[in-house]
Amino acid sequence: MCGIVGYLGKREKKELLLDGLQELEYRGYDSAGIAIIEDDQLNNFKAVGKLANLREKTKDFHSEGFGISIGHTRWATHGKPTELNAHPHLGQYSYVVHNGIIENYQDLKAELQNDGISFLSQTDTETIVHLFEKYNKISSTPFEAFAKTIERLHGAFATLLITEAAPDTIFFAKNGSPMLIGFDADEVYFASSDTPIIGKATQVYYLEDGEYGYAKSGEVKLFDAKGARAIQKQPLATDKAMAQKDGYRFFMEKEIYEQSSVISDTMIGRVRDKEIYFEELDSAFFEGINAIKICACGTSYHAALTSGYLFERLAKIRCDVEIASEFRYKEPLLDPSTLFVTISQSGETADTLEALKMAKRAGLKSLSICNVDNSSIVRESDAVILTRAGIEKGVASTKAFATQAMVLWMLSVYLAQKRQTMSDEAKAIEITAMLQTPKSLLVTEELHGKLHRLSKRYLHGHGFFFIGRDIFYPLALEGALKLKEISYLHAEGYPAGEMKHGPIALADSKLFTIALMPKTVHYDKIKSNVEELSARDATILAISPEPFTLADDFIQTIYASHPMLEFFEMMVVTQILALEIAVRLGNDVDMPRNLAKSVTVE
Ligand code: G6P
Repeated sequence: MCGIVGYLGKREKKELLLDGLQELEYRGYDSAGIAIIEDDQLNNFKAVGKLANLREKTKDFHSEGFGISIGHTRWATHGKPTELNAHPHLGQYSYVVHNGIIENYQDLKAELQNDGISFLSQTDTETIVHLFEKYNKISSTPFEAFAKTIERLHGAFATLLITEAAPDTIFFAKNGSPMLIGFDADEVYFASSDTPIIGKATQVYYLEDGEYGYAKSGEVKLFDAKGARAIQKQPLATDKAMAQKDGYRFFMEKEIYEQSSVISDTMIGRVRDKEIYFEELDSAFFEGINAIKICACGTSYHAALTSGYLFERLAKIRCDVEIASEFRYKEPLLDPSTLFVTISQSGETADTLEALKMAKRAGLKSLSICNVDNSSIVRESDAVILTRAGIEKGVASTKAFATQAMVLWMLSVYLAQKRQTMSDEAKAIEITAMLQTPKSLLVTEELHGKLHRLSKRYLHGHGFFFIGRDIFYPLALEGALKLKEISYLHAEGYPAGEMKHGPIALADSKLFTIALMPKTVHYDKIKSNVEELSARDATILAISPEPFTLADDFIQTIYASHPMLEFFEMMVVTQILALEIAVRLGNDVDMPRNLAKSVTVE
């Protein structure tokens, strides 16, 4: 996740770029930069940290007259958030900004280094600009060089390039990552989403994957693999608040729908060639480690609980999971052969941070799984795996949880590889399933419609039990947490087999049971548990691929081949159910009462 803007025209460019980047700051904010060519004069500024730092650095600079310009706000994927790694990246006479990941950058970089080119940054992006300049030497036009460059790139990219070799032209390409072109008379805008150009451009074209081209003198030429294409412009929305939510009613809703695509960002470069890779972990990282302790709070704690099953089952390593606020004061016995893992979407949760500091004082090696680079927990940890969910605005976490669960699943398989606890066939099953995850996370209109209709029956009663077994137990906890966070109704998550040891005393028709009944994990056992509840007249909403006759309501999921695919599909169902109930109750879904997105107090 990074944000890109570009502009060709007569307006003052610095302010325009900075204002545009401000709108995209939610996509990443560990560094930012701009490059402007005006009267053949090139200016470039970069600053680490939030955009305010770049504003300060450029306060005495102004641009005048016709020119071209590009800007970027970064969410680090390759290389730390330093000024050298900030975009735009410089060749000898060209600048590039990029959002996405160039998967073959190491091969391209080796090829360019062989040609004698030295790299300033650790990024994958820098290869684009050097490749362009290499081809520009042997091409008849800079556009030909740009097209040749794009042809060499594998992976996801939205990229803009400007060069002194064509000081009136912006080159662009899109594949996988979002980018659009805005138009107003002879001015041309580029951006990762439409909010930066609302109120400026009047028409827009949303680029498709595989499209590339250039903007020059107010005109845009568009190409794809088949050749030149006409541009079908459409009118641009004028309501910015609406545009930020991409047409969804709430950020939480948008974030639920986004899960299917952000999960690919989480996997990109990490799940490939039938192996799991974590370039951020050095190869000796797990040496001497024979147990894992995970600490987290809230939703992140539920992701941690899920992985407790996976680490032991797949990587055959002991894994304990604790709530950070409990761990801190229990006087825990800590052994340096235990890896201490913290999970946090914000990276700022006080209890988790303090638990991490305690573990470090006890000499434990630490790893954080986090969505915000450069956050306190990340800075404090020996190693970090970023979840790449992009900024989550809804206080009730959805896509951050999905990406945490994904990282933990990948990490379990990675560790199984290292510890050789898994056959190649078993690993292939895990990896094949991982690659199907985006599909399991898709929200269909039919599912959303059904949950909307069904939600009206669940607005009263004396409480909800979400029940599940195995990894579906933490999912039940998370489903219950989501519901109580935004509906303010009482909900509890319970291991299904534990209901008979007390909670079943509550069962009557006003007790709503949300039963997670996957077909791949202990189906018959959970079925018996749900039957016990049904016999006591509890109202049952069953979520399962297998039709269940005793259910009062039934959401049918697909017969998936792997428990994690069922996990992700059922997760989406519980999120939308919570959302629809909260909407019917008239609650503020994105900012529920009494809660905060980042809890920096004990
Ligand atoms: C707050 C948030 C929750 C989150 C928890 C832990 O309570 O509202 O959504 O799960 O903190 O936050 P973290 O940033 O550490 O994941």
